[in-house]
Amino acid sequence: MSKDKLVIFDTTLRDGEQSPGASMTKDEKIRIAKMLEKMRVDVIEAGFAIASPGDFEAVKAVAETVKDSTVCSLARAMGPDILRAGEALKNANAGRIHTFIATSPIHMKYKLQMEPEEVLAQAIDAVKRARQFTDDVEFSLEDGSRTEFEFASRIIEAVIDAGASTINIPDTVGYGEPAEYGLMFKRLIENVPNSDKAIFSTHCHNDLGLAVANSLSAVMNGVRQVECTINGLGERAGNASLEELVMAVQTRHDVMPVHTDIDPVHIVPTSRLVSSITGFPVQPNKAIVGANAFAHESGIHQDGVLKHRETYEIMKAEDVGWNTNKLVLGKHSGRAAVKARYEELGIQFEEHGEFNQIFQAFKQLADKKHEIFDEDLQALVGEAQEVEETYGFEAMEISCKTGQAPHAKLAIRVGEQVIETDSEGSGPVDAVFKAIEKQFQSGADLLLYSVNAITQGTEAVGDVTVRLERNGQLVNGVGADTDVVAASAKAYLQALNMLESGVRSHPQHGV
Ligand code: KIV
Ligand code: ZN
Repeated sequence: MSKDKLVIFDTTLRDGEQSPGASMTKDEKIRIAKMLEKMRVDVIEAGFAIASPGDFEAVKAVAETVKDSTVCSLARAMGPDILRAGEALKNANAGRIHTFIATSPIHMKYKLQMEPEEVLAQAIDAVKRARQFTDDVEFSLEDGSRTEFEFASRIIEAVIDAGASTINIPDTVGYGEPAEYGLMFKRLIENVPNSDKAIFSTHCHNDLGLAVANSLSAVMNGVRQVECTINGLGERAGNASLEELVMAVQTRHDVMPVHTDIDPVHIVPTSRLVSSITGFPVQPNKAIVGANAFAHESGIHQDGVLKHRETYEIMKAEDVGWNTNKLVLGKHSGRAAVKARYEELGIQFEEHGEFNQIFQAFKQLADKKHEIFDEDLQALVGEAQEVEETYGFEAMEISCKTGQAPHAKLAIRVGEQVIETDSEGSGPVDAVFKAIEKQFQSGADLLLYSVNAITQGTEAVGDVTVRLERNGQLVNGVGADTDVVAASAKAYLQALNMLESGVRSHPQHGV
């Protein structure tokens, strides 16, 4: 049976970034975009160009860097949004404008306070404007799964006539149910007279844990583009996960009417990169990319796998990029080897100084840890992101004794000076955070603290994320060290640096 191509549209850099605290800098977006390109993602939604100057620059930079994937910017169905998206995509090899307006009764009445006829007119106008910048225009009916069938049919026919070549019907609030959502596409494709002139697309949120199931049901009913994110990142409960969709299509090719062009071997490294940049750890039992996804615990399973792998395994771990983290580097590795390995991981350093800093951190790590894995290298980059340093970790002394309150003494660089501070706490990490706050009184609230052992064994590097909030500004600081208490101190100080320098405030808070 010949199969249609399923277009993979990744929105990690846009919808994924809408997860609270997951905002990414321009350089981080470029790093992820390069990995997505290497994975052969068809369309990369790089951001929402009008949302902030930072987001505009990020979309522009991704558009100028990526050559083999289409680069897309989101734009509301409004002239200024479309203009900004068009400007950001000016130098793209292939650029797409993705414009949207809400079409469900509840959104039109309460959010937009517009009549359906006004929404229709605005949608047509937006698509026509977008076509002045590119032939590749996608139109989304926001809250599409709760939109009335007749109105959806009318608006889709009109925007295809106006020049949209992709029609996306998102399940914006994650309310869809697979059979119903799939049937909606079937009926629309059959009923809209010019439906053959466009590709229909899904964009599913995971509020009921059905995002992937809904997307696949839509594919079974004629959809040929799925919008998804690495690790299922995204607004609220997230979006359909790229790795699950791609591997479902590949593993169940016997029943799927489609194929993808994705090279799955890059899935795990990309998942790790996204996790280390956003500070969102991947749950161990997450399909495909979770640490336990291919680990067999029960004796019966282990026995079966040893006798014949397919008894319990439906995919090969190495096909999605597990076990490719070859041990290549250690204490004696030189600059060229380290740089080359970074390049294989899709990480390039624009400036000499930037690499020097990473190489120094690599050497320090190699002194403490004999085996350096890809994840360690990625964690070092996460830690060294370009945040202006107000506070720098210098040294610490921790004392913990049964029956006594843990005590932390820290030396912190502030400009040319080194300041000492100390505190007790309910645990060593608490003592470290209290010592920092005693000195600097940042006024920030600690919203999240997470530790991820990124490689195996007790000498593993601990990757710590600290999420702070101050006056509505949310930041994620990351710190990596073989000592989790030191990693925690570094992560806390990095988060404070971000608050001080104003980076990483959420790019879409302004719109
Ligand atoms: O969830 C949604 O409806 C969206 C649209 C902007 C496509 O993210
Ligand atoms: Zn969305």
